[in-house]
Amino acid sequence: MSSFEFFAPCPRGLEAPLAAELREIGVHAPIKVGAEVPGGAHFAGEWAAAMAVNLHSRIASRVLLKIAQRPYRNEHDIFAFALEQPWERWFTANQTLRIDVTAIKSPLKSLEFTTLRVKDAVCDRLRDTTGARPNIDTAEPDVRIFVFVTATDCTLYLDTSGEPLFKRGWRLDKGAAPLRENLAAGILRLTGWAPGTPLYDPMCGSGTFLAEAVQQSLGVAPGVQRRFGFEKLKQYDITAWQGLKVAAMDKQRAARSAKIDDLKIFGSDISGDMLDKARSNLARAGVPTLVLKQLDARNMVAPIDEPGILVANPPYGERIEVRGRGPRGEARPTPRSERDQSRGARGEARGGYRDRDRNGDDDDGGARGFERAESEELGAEFFQAFGDALKQRFTGWHAFMLSSDRGLPGQLRLRESTKTPLFNGALECRLFRFDLIAGSVRRREPEA
Ligand SMILES: C[S@@+](CC[C@H](N)C(=O)[O-])C[C@H]1O[C@@H](n2cnc3c(N)ncnc32)[C@H](O)[C@@H]1O
Repeated sequence: MSSFEFFAPCPRGLEAPLAAELREIGVHAPIKVGAEVPGGAHFAGEWAAAMAVNLHSRIASRVLLKIAQRPYRNEHDIFAFALEQPWERWFTANQTLRIDVTAIKSPLKSLEFTTLRVKDAVCDRLRDTTGARPNIDTAEPDVRIFVFVTATDCTLYLDTSGEPLFKRGWRLDKGAAPLRENLAAGILRLTGWAPGTPLYDPMCGSGTFLAEAVQQSLGVAPGVQRRFGFEKLKQYDITAWQGLKVAAMDKQRAARSAKIDDLKIFGSDISGDMLDKARSNLARAGVPTLVLKQLDARNMVAPIDEPGILVANPPYGERIEVRGRGPRGEARPTPRSERDQSRGARGEARGGYRDRDRNGDDDDGGARGFERAESEELGAEFFQAFGDALKQRFTGWHAFMLSSDRGLPGQLRLRESTKTPLFNGALECRLFRFDLIAGSVRRREPEA
């Protein structure tokens, strides 16, 4: 059997948890974990290793097979390099193709032109060896080639995943700002949470943390419901794949009858609509539906007597802002508030936050400025009350919050124990940790 080199990209900040996870996936197929680099980790193994990582990794975004690496000076060198590779070994000219080029500090003038050159090289190679040229399909290609160029070197990768791995195949209902599943899974790992420890997300939205945690508790493989790019490649070990897949399907079947009380996983959200989405996502993820409560996080209480891990990504950034009743309980006489009230009629509790218009329309001029100031006031009040709830009702718990707002600890009036930089897509965030230890909650005075 041959051994191959692979690269698993992941959200930046999760390289170490990914490497740890790859070592654990070694129980399914031998894996030699290599270097962690910004944005991913290298590993080596037989085809079974790539299949096992695709099926079992919660943190990787993809699994890329390294085809070749070489120094280059310009697009012509990259064309010649791509032309030399025996692509016909991996796929046929009847399959559709997509090329992606990523560059860091490269001297190349146009990545678009480089992409075209690689496409030409691969198509020429297939035509020369098989007599036919593959077609390009950027939306749903059969085969994806990734080209990674640095200042000096060009690496060609063949994708084995297809759709990115954070698409587990169960999410239909998205919230306004859902976390990617692999970021949620990486955060769970960074919190040190393990199945059996109580876990609570008081702003659970569409339930990403909950679904990841429940699947993990029940040993359900994240990729058990989806297909992978390697299934379309000429060379893959179908016998090894059947073995991996059947074992994963058995686990999933067993998970359906698990008792939810044993899981100690809890969620709540102010929005009834969001909770409906979370329930259907959990059902589609093939795990028992948890009891989810509609609750303003300011009024939350510990859901179990035992201390555990509280995790949340509170609303922040451009897409979600404060809405509802302020500290004095006043409602806002704006068209937007009316829209909010109509939402209330659909079962959303008052208070907290609202989604900003998805298209960013600013149709109500001056009222918008007024709303924003009011939203800021509501936001400040919300975080202070939420921080008080943590201090008063979550003694012994460890709370973790992902936010792009560096001022979050100040708003909560809590001092963080650690803050870990993480990227939510392009948005730079921090995962703040607050240790709510009895008698020693680290309070923080409000900033002037
Ligand atoms: C950024 S989203 C969380 C997304 C979630 N992690 C997911 O993956 O779908 C923030 C969530 O906080 C909820 N929320 C806003 N204000 C709240 C409040 N006062 N109490 C509880 N939940 C609130 C929103 O309904 C929204 O679902």
